[in-house]
Amino acid sequence: MTKIAIIGPGAVGGTIAHDLLPTFTHLTLVGRQSQTITYTESTAPNTETILNVTAIDEFDDLVDILFIAVKIPQLDAIIQKLPNFIHEDTIIILAQNGTGQLPRIPHKHVFQAVVYISGQKRQQHITHFRDHQLILQHSPSTQQLQHLFSNTQLDITLVEDIDQSIWYKLLVNLAINTVTALSRQTAQVLKVEGIQTLCERLLQEGVKIAQAEGVIFHQDVISEIMTIYQGYPDQMGTSMYYDIIEGKPLEIAGIQGFLYQVAHKHQLATPTLDTVYPLLLAQQQ
Ligand SMILES: NC(=O)c1ccc[n+]([C@@H]2O[C@H](COP(=O)([O-])OP(=O)(O)OC[C@H]3O[C@@H](n4cnc5c(N)ncnc54)[C@H](OP(=O)(O)O)[C@@H]3O)[C@@H](O)[C@H]2O)c1
Repeated sequence: MTKIAIIGPGAVGGTIAHDLLPTFTHLTLVGRQSQTITYTESTAPNTETILNVTAIDEFDDLVDILFIAVKIPQLDAIIQKLPNFIHEDTIIILAQNGTGQLPRIPHKHVFQAVVYISGQKRQQHITHFRDHQLILQHSPSTQQLQHLFSNTQLDITLVEDIDQSIWYKLLVNLAINTVTALSRQTAQVLKVEGIQTLCERLLQEGVKIAQAEGVIFHQDVISEIMTIYQGYPDQMGTSMYYDIIEGKPLEIAGIQGFLYQVAHKHQLATPTLDTVYPLLLAQQQ
């Protein structure tokens, strides 16, 4: 009997719970408080699944697999409580955007997932838009997970070089999250004169920082990411856009802040990042 917990009953955590619950009955979705939330596929708005959430302060079971699906600013509070939920062999999956947070989790089997699950939580309701994929570094532990979840909707994809996948998603997040958050506009901001050039400059600096860390991208990566942005509907918001609009803390530490620190470590000239990073930080004051 495999015991599983998912901390963070939001868009990502709720989708993982929804995908695993039919197969794994010993699964607990853990949130700030005990409550029920609903989950709907955007393609089937009339079909609701009820998910039960257990309050984190009432949950003290040691689990074999723990997903952490809270946003980066909320991670500290979870790390403090981790000893209540994990044993020596627990596999921890950090299902977050950005990177740089793993060293903060003192445990043997902890893996950064690159999350391709798109959804949104509004009050007690999750709407899932698309994708059910977590990309993880190939290892004996993650292979075990892939096997365990093979008959579920959750797609565990294993790669030989997780850094390449982490940095690619980081680059995709870097420019669009920055311009939508700072302008407080959805993807329509890309139509404002100069914004696409700003995105390209941020991406060029991101690619340079990645290279300094030994993560090399092909030459077309910037135009590839700009093409992804151009495919976004005007009304689409990013997570940093929604967080800033709702007055929530931003995940700067794992995206722009992480890149800023790495650029400084390598003494790289990153004038665009050096401009937008403090402006983002200032939004939080
Ligand atoms: N949503 C997406 O489409 C998407 C896509 C790719 C990656 N991601 C990444 O995945 C991560 C999770 O994002 P998300 O969209 O699922 O966030 P979310 O909808 O805000 O969900 C996070 C959940 O964690 C809960 N939480 C916060 N602090 C907690 C605590 N101390 N104890 C228990 N629960 C706590 C939150 O409760 P409160 O609401 O009460 O704070 C919320 O229900 C982020 O890093 C995000 O960038 C998201």
